[in-house]
Amino acid sequence: MSKKVDEVLLKINKVYNPPKKVLEKALLTKEQFDDMYKKSIEDPEGFWAELAEKELHWYKKWDKVFEWNFPYYKWFIGGKINITYNCLDRHVQNGKRNKLAYIWVDEDGIEKKITYGELLELVNKTANALKELGLKKGDRVVIYMPLTIEQIVIMLACARIGVIHSVVFAGFSANALRMRISDAEAKVVFTSTWTKRRGKKINLKSVVDEALAQECDCVEKVVIHQRDKGELELQENELDFYELIEKQSPNCEPEIMDAEDPLFILYTSGSTGKPKGVLHTIGGYNLYTHITTKYVFDINEDDIYWCTADTGWITGHSYIVYGPLSVGTTSIIAEGAPDYPDPGRWWSIVEKYRVNIFYTAPTAVRLFMKYGEEWPAKYDLSSLRVLGSVGEPINPEAWIWYYENIGRKQCSIVDTWWQTETGGHMITTIPSYPQKPGKAGKPFFGIEADVVDEEGNPLPPNAEGYLVIKKPWPSALRTCWGEPERFEKYWTQIKGKQWYLPEDVATKDEDGYIMILGRADDVLNVSGHRIGTAEVESALVSHPAVAEAAVIGKPHEIKGQSIKAFIILKTSYEPSEELKKEIKEHVKHELGPIAVPDEIEFVEKLPKTRSGKIMRRVLRAKELGLPLGDTSTLED
Ligand code: PRX
Repeated sequence: MSKKVDEVLLKINKVYNPPKKVLEKALLTKEQFDDMYKKSIEDPEGFWAELAEKELHWYKKWDKVFEWNFPYYKWFIGGKINITYNCLDRHVQNGKRNKLAYIWVDEDGIEKKITYGELLELVNKTANALKELGLKKGDRVVIYMPLTIEQIVIMLACARIGVIHSVVFAGFSANALRMRISDAEAKVVFTSTWTKRRGKKINLKSVVDEALAQECDCVEKVVIHQRDKGELELQENELDFYELIEKQSPNCEPEIMDAEDPLFILYTSGSTGKPKGVLHTIGGYNLYTHITTKYVFDINEDDIYWCTADTGWITGHSYIVYGPLSVGTTSIIAEGAPDYPDPGRWWSIVEKYRVNIFYTAPTAVRLFMKYGEEWPAKYDLSSLRVLGSVGEPINPEAWIWYYENIGRKQCSIVDTWWQTETGGHMITTIPSYPQKPGKAGKPFFGIEADVVDEEGNPLPPNAEGYLVIKKPWPSALRTCWGEPERFEKYWTQIKGKQWYLPEDVATKDEDGYIMILGRADDVLNVSGHRIGTAEVESALVSHPAVAEAAVIGKPHEIKGQSIKAFIILKTSYEPSEELKKEIKEHVKHELGPIAVPDEIEFVEKLPKTRSGKIMRRVLRAKELGLPLGDTSTLED
């Protein structure tokens, strides 16, 4: 074994015990967690029913906790609930009217604060406005907005009256937005005039205009949050957000929803075809995100919590909006880049607001590693207690850097493995649990996880295999919008078993700690963002010069993975640097900046199977100088 591998193994096998500061505020001890976990597996229905009753408000209790009509499942059948009541009204009624719900900051240091009481009124006004627009329970709206309080208000207003929201990350292009609007047949699109990143204004409204220019007859109205008052001349079907809500009543009774009514759709990449519209329902999702927020982050009443994600992704849905509001905490949200105006931006925010719980992605940690420890060293980070990681495997070096330079060896790190489909954290240690750098850790309550081979056989400790989840949990996706067969696939991949296959490769050690190694399928993870190779390839071949294309992920120091594209040009085109640039620009336009290949190589041929499938595995092995593996199916 090489020295490097040895060193890494030494690091990941070292156990870090929770610091004193963490243990003092811990909501559960390790022993309590273990006891509760045991109960959650032995009697999942009893376990979740008890928590649902204790932690959430229900208009009517469920008739049955769980039903599994394979592969479809339901939780809290017959239960009546409204997630916004749990996120807002009950806190306002229980003495938290004046507690801050969000502190929003931008790159210029402008700050906006909103209390639970104010948030409830704003949500109600917006919900009344949605009704005025003719929206009813079950209708869909698309939200294409940056990380702002207004964006969150609109999500909640939808949930208030049973409208299904589909948030589209504001970095996606017009084509990606159009596909999501038309697939869900959204009646209304919400947008903002612009967002700012690294001091540069990015026009969002023009992206919406471009998206709506084709195939979007379903859209009746566009509601615009004008960030500078009166900056637009509104067209016939366009409305100004504040003008629309100004005249509305601040009271709006929450719609009494069924636990299994849809809450939202969120599109995510698969290994083939267009993105899937993952559908989450209300009751189970509310409960599971509430419980994970509470125990994985150890939220105490006076804590300040900061999840650095964007509300355009699942992390934002579950751990900026629904989880934190349901537990009633105060969250920071920061629009813009982490390192602008300088690499001290995030740490100055931690210092200024005395952030206690900080949740980010490994790609950000690696970015700050590159800037150097002198940046965080300038700031007082002593308020921090729990540090979270999400989105991709955190390499042991980054873990230790995070622990030492941000946590100052006084914080616990919770490395939370989960997915858009899972709704909430699945594998992680809680703060009072011993941690191992690079290993996400243990399954959370109700999660029966294992690492198995292709046939589902258990593997010896530390062997690489497929991660599987053996039973549905409350916040599991319920279907894929309009494509039930894609949902069913998650549960039917391993023959003879009824297990959920997340398509991740993992190992499990002697102590039951799970380490996630990466995707098992053709899905890339660039800076924690999930991107399908098929999507990038189809964007590439839509360029007039491209005959065929294949993309692979390559290890990247900061982004985790970078995209390399291999392209066969049509015969009438000559390879050139100019053309590479043009093709990159084209992908940016088709999908958005996150999907643009870092590298393009023009080739004469692509490795294919005899049936014509591109063997990306072979391309990757050649690119990285790895053994080619089994090439018996290779065409020539
Ligand atoms: O490969 C895993 C990786 O991100 C994928 C899910 O992506 P998405 O649905 O966009 O959700 C990201 C935020 C929850 C997973 O299949 N992933 C996520 N968290 C981790 C991770 N890989 C390793 N460790 C994690 N903590």
